[in-house]
Amino acid sequence: MSEPGRSLFERAAEVYDFKAAVRARAPIAGLPPVQDPQPPVGERGPDASPPPLPNRRGVIDRDALAAAGFALLDDRVTALAEEFRLVKRQLLQAATAPGSIARDRMILVASALPAEGKTFCAVNLALSVAAEKDFEVLLVDADVAKPSILALLGLEDGPGLMDAIADPALDVEGCIIRTDVPHLSVLPAGRPGNDTTELLASDRTRLVLDRIVTRRPNRVLIFDSPPALAASPASELAHHVGRVMLIVRADRTSDVELREAVALLGGCGDIRLLLNATAMASGGRRFGSYYGHEG
Ligand SMILES: Nc1ncnc2c1ncn2[C@@H]1O[C@H](COP(=O)(O)OP(=O)(O)OP(=O)(O)O)[C@@H](O)[C@H]1O
Ligand SMILES: [Mg+2]
Repeated sequence: MSEPGRSLFERAAEVYDFKAAVRARAPIAGLPPVQDPQPPVGERGPDASPPPLPNRRGVIDRDALAAAGFALLDDRVTALAEEFRLVKRQLLQAATAPGSIARDRMILVASALPAEGKTFCAVNLALSVAAEKDFEVLLVDADVAKPSILALLGLEDGPGLMDAIADPALDVEGCIIRTDVPHLSVLPAGRPGNDTTELLASDRTRLVLDRIVTRRPNRVLIFDSPPALAASPASELAHHVGRVMLIVRADRTSDVELREAVALLGGCGDIRLLLNATAMASGGRRFGSYYGHEG
């Protein structure tokens, strides 16, 4: 069971000393930080007024989401919703802390292996942030080879992140789908190609992401990524974001795999572990079930 008052991050830190792993790994050259300290929400001047919301519209398939175990589209207080509230609160605090920069509003949801719950956590977290009054969330499908967010949400696919990176003439804002869930927009993955990793490593990616994040100062970006050990895009994306949320399947991810993933994602200096379920297959929703250190 969850321990009230303690976040999954804190509990995860107890089962894996990721700080030691980060200290031990060779330094990886990262991009210089974006120099744009943001004023706190509510204290922004008239020049900060955001551009209009995107034109592309979509309706979320709430029934399909509920059937897949997503329980955050209504006001019910569930254990799952509460877990994500705690995680969200920490992310938003970091994103708005004094001295925070635009990059702190970009969060990469990653994991070592396939099927550890990255998409599940990214969508749940996005829904949780969307419920905030002072923030909006852009859920980015960054799993270019195997995108699943659009189908999961029941949205029509279209041009997306990779198209905007590859084509300087394409305004990324025009690719964003505004949904009927207030404060929730989605950016499709866009065209797959052999050059995905190179494109994500290019300056164009930084430009596109800067544009998305600076245009709307209350916008939080949540990236759903492919498995870090199976594909290189997650490692490239880590260079651009302020925080990596590394999903750990308590019953599956080995210590070695976890350390390898931490090293691969080292382009981001702030990696937090998040424990996911131990018994999904048996039907119970066990997000965040605590393992180890219980007695
Ligand atoms: N805590 C959970 N409770 C219930 N179901 C979950 C939970 N975590 C993941 N799942 C389910 O497990 C399956 C795999 O999860 P998901 O697709 O999120 O993994 P992934 O890491 O994104 O996989 P991939 O690497 O293939 O993209 C999905 O059907 C998802 O809904
Ligand atoms: Mg996924």
